[in-house]
Amino acid sequence: MKIAAIADLHCSTNSAGEMRELLEGVERAADLLVIAGDLTNMGLPDEMGILLGELRRLSLPTLAVLGNHDHESDRVEQLSSMLKTGGVFLLDGGTCIIDGVGFIGSKGFCGGFGKLAVQPFGERTLKELIRASIEEAKLLEHILDEMDSERKVAILHYAPVEQTLVGEERELYPFLGSSLLADALDRKGVDVVVHGHAHNGSPEGKTPGGIPVHNVCRFVRKRMGLSPYLVLEV
Ligand SMILES: [Fe+2]
Ligand SMILES: [Fe+2]
Repeated sequence: MKIAAIADLHCSTNSAGEMRELLEGVERAADLLVIAGDLTNMGLPDEMGILLGELRRLSLPTLAVLGNHDHESDRVEQLSSMLKTGGVFLLDGGTCIIDGVGFIGSKGFCGGFGKLAVQPFGERTLKELIRASIEEAKLLEHILDEMDSERKVAILHYAPVEQTLVGEERELYPFLGSSLLADALDRKGVDVVVHGHAHNGSPEGKTPGGIPVHNVCRFVRKRMGLSPYLVLEV
């Protein structure tokens, strides 16, 4: 199966033409489109409407996870139901199997990496933040336990490893992802991981257990002179 993966579309109400350009030829290049979060710029239904209009033209099966920008206007329920009616399968802590390939997806969250990860210690607000990150990692493990498929693709918005953040300011790393996500994926095993969110990061990395990780943020790919979407063969 050929999978086209892209992230950080940041569609706004005047982005129809830009979306069309980004997705040019994708229906011929792949059997399936994966969007790894930040579909909209401000999380507004009008923005999602524009994007769905462009996706409809492609008539390509499409899976997505939401990103932090999709949460910005606190309209996640409305956006999720628009995706559903628009024919996009939203993997919000869920799974689906298409032609024998299992997909799991979740937004993920921040928290930092390895020894420098922020610890759930002290103030309640800080504990709540890190708890949200721990819960995201647990959710990944849980859904991977439930899924019975030989080939598995994980879709996240936040980064599970530091390598795909290289290029970002070091101080931002704790806000761009969490190594808890990579730990969970390594424990349960997937074939490949795609994520976005790190606009100034790098395209390739690996989890400590050796799972390939692709930052498919369209801004990273543009900076590298690559096509807006990555085509993976699984
Ligand atoms: Fe983004
Ligand atoms: Fe983001």
